[in-house]
Amino acid sequence: MQLCVIGAGYVGLVTACCFAEMGNRVVCVERDPVRLARLARGDVPIYEPGLEALLRAHLASGQLSFSASMGEGVRNAAIAFIAVGTPTGEDGSADLSHVLAVADELGEALQQPCLVVDKSTVPVGTAERVGQRINRRLASRSMSFRVRIASNPEFLKEGSAVEDFMRPDRVILGCDDGQSTEQLRRLYAPFLRNHERVLCMGVRAAEFTKYAANAFLATRISFMNEMAGLCARLDVDIEDVRRGIGSDKRIGTHFIYAGCGYGGSCFPKDVRALIRSAELEGFEPGILRAVEARNALQKTLLFQSVREHFNGLLQGRIVAVWGLAFKPGTDDLREAPSLVLLDALLAAGAKVQACDPVACNGMQGRYAEALESGQLQLTESPYSATESADALVLVTEWKQFRQPDFARIRGLMRMPVIFDGRNIYDATELAGLGFLYRGIGRPLAGHCKASAA
Ligand code: UDX
Repeated sequence: MQLCVIGAGYVGLVTACCFAEMGNRVVCVERDPVRLARLARGDVPIYEPGLEALLRAHLASGQLSFSASMGEGVRNAAIAFIAVGTPTGEDGSADLSHVLAVADELGEALQQPCLVVDKSTVPVGTAERVGQRINRRLASRSMSFRVRIASNPEFLKEGSAVEDFMRPDRVILGCDDGQSTEQLRRLYAPFLRNHERVLCMGVRAAEFTKYAANAFLATRISFMNEMAGLCARLDVDIEDVRRGIGSDKRIGTHFIYAGCGYGGSCFPKDVRALIRSAELEGFEPGILRAVEARNALQKTLLFQSVREHFNGLLQGRIVAVWGLAFKPGTDDLREAPSLVLLDALLAAGAKVQACDPVACNGMQGRYAEALESGQLQLTESPYSATESADALVLVTEWKQFRQPDFARIRGLMRMPVIFDGRNIYDATELAGLGFLYRGIGRPLAGHCKASAA
């Protein structure tokens, strides 16, 4: 099939590469000239396992190409996917300016009928607006054809985006006519040997499903974080509770990990947008508000815990921070809990020695001053980050931080204190090695004489 993917961001690029991998001819339209030039050279601007190999293979095979021109992109395209960003607008709602601008451009560029599919996460009713805008322009150009529209939300996760796209849990096809459903079904057939995983519904239901999925997952996390707060006060380990409830099939083991809060490009933005949608409908989204409030609080916990440990005196303290990306497997720093911690530590006068396997490049802009003055240092090795440190804070659970040589770290640190923002360490083992250990929603373990200093 001849396809056009508009937007070479996370979702667009993965979509374009994976459709090309399945033998489609894909033109990806990208406006940013720098990004476009990098992609055309086979250079992926984000860290995503497997993506660069796909990009290079299909640039070479000619199945995939990039263009700055919408006209070129949609020439002969049977389906055009809109995969541009929907950032948070000033009032918390999804900012649709990019999506609507694409609709206008499509209305000007299309020379033949085409199915226009929204892959961006957009509020209910957006696909309809997109269709109307395109068709209005087609009418003003005296074109005799009109476009059909569909919603096909994307559920890929950063860090496993290619795998998620190639082997999806489900594909949601939101179409209001049979022809569009059939067209998309055919396109997705090679990805789904198990056809039960294709779920067909109306356009509006598909748009809502994406928000509901992300909001539900965020709710599970915030719920567990609230339970963790209570556990900490009742001398109960949230990790025991997590295992205890996760073994119930109705609850399941995923997305019930307490920690220092969720971040990334989706959960925070989508929860906010859903709250705004509810407000616009005059509906009170009490649960969603609580989910968001709990997460905002959760992101401050690590700092509160460190400050409390040092009796509010952080000036001159050296704090090692392991993990900056919002989760392992990505270089994405958007809404990352690490940023909240770093901002507070630096403002309180602490020196920070941070280590992340791939996300350090993204620190230059926001922390230029602290990097320049040396108050913030980025290290390649997790061990160098702990040199002379008064505390170690684990923020992102990268594999390389899971089983470090704690005896070596004990020797490197000035004070053996660990704040575990993801509850990945064995509290008893660390206490045995002479560390003071604080997790999220776990009883305090070990003791540290120097901590009174
Ligand atoms: C999410 C959705 O999972 C995906 O389906 C959607 O398409 C985009 O948004 P992503 O943002 O890549 O994907 O990350 P995800 O793995 O879902 O993690 C989100 C955040 O929740 C991370 O900050 C993670 O650390 C946190 N998290 C996750 C928890 O705090 N506890 C958990 O149990 C699970």
